[in-house]
Amino acid sequence: MNFTILRFDSIDSTNTEALNQAKQGADEGLCIVAKRQTAGRGRHGRTWISEKDAGLYFSLVLRPKIENKFLPLLTLMSAVAVYDVLQELYKLKPDIKWANDVHIDEKKICGILAEMTETKRGMVVVVGIGINLKSSNFPPELEEIATSIEQETNQKIDADKLLENLTRQLAKYYQILKNENGAATIRQQWAIRSTYFRGKSVTVKLENESVTGMTCGLEESGALRVETKNGEIKIIHAGVVERLRKND
Ligand code: BTN
Repeated sequence: MNFTILRFDSIDSTNTEALNQAKQGADEGLCIVAKRQTAGRGRHGRTWISEKDAGLYFSLVLRPKIENKFLPLLTLMSAVAVYDVLQELYKLKPDIKWANDVHIDEKKICGILAEMTETKRGMVVVVGIGINLKSSNFPPELEEIATSIEQETNQKIDADKLLENLTRQLAKYYQILKNENGAATIRQQWAIRSTYFRGKSVTVKLENESVTGMTCGLEESGALRVETKNGEIKIIHAGVVERLRKND
């Protein structure tokens, strides 16, 4: 994949910009990067706080020619790429919380928001990645639940080097996903990097209910399987997964 990088000092949301550019015909490989976002978006309609230079805020345009049922694997693939970069560049020990949050010691360091749109040139998926570089500007409600590369390594972070390595890893796993049996490979790669794959007690908050049980692998599409107390297997396509602690 050839990358074209478009940089902004300030923008509403790199995902919104990438979706707009895709609608206007942008090629696969367009990356929108911003120093700050004024309306950064998270999953489930949340805001992604995006202070200047406190994070890497980045969105990638993809025009995937894969079966529709495998599209959710693009987010799993992206989490795998982030995991590898954090491990290789900074010697961190990440974990992936289903589906695609990257954590260090149970604190979130990266979030991923994939969005789809139809364009004249076909379907587009924009993968938006936010990686916390610094914790100094975290609002109090994030201090307990989030961390940053700087906090974990006590190093100043070179955002360009991080971006360069991240795009390289994304291109690698995207190529793998498109290969024959690529979907199975991505699921395996995700599974070996995530403690949520199997045997984790979780509660999943869905729109109108919650499911509590033990994780037991992934479906073909990357959906999470959760076995409830009465032995029923629930398939989670979307939802907020929370780990149950001993005293919960
Ligand atoms: C999450 O809720 O965990 C997903 C957060 C995704 C944030 C990134 S930052 C770059 C891109 N632009 C956005 O508006 N959101 C994503």
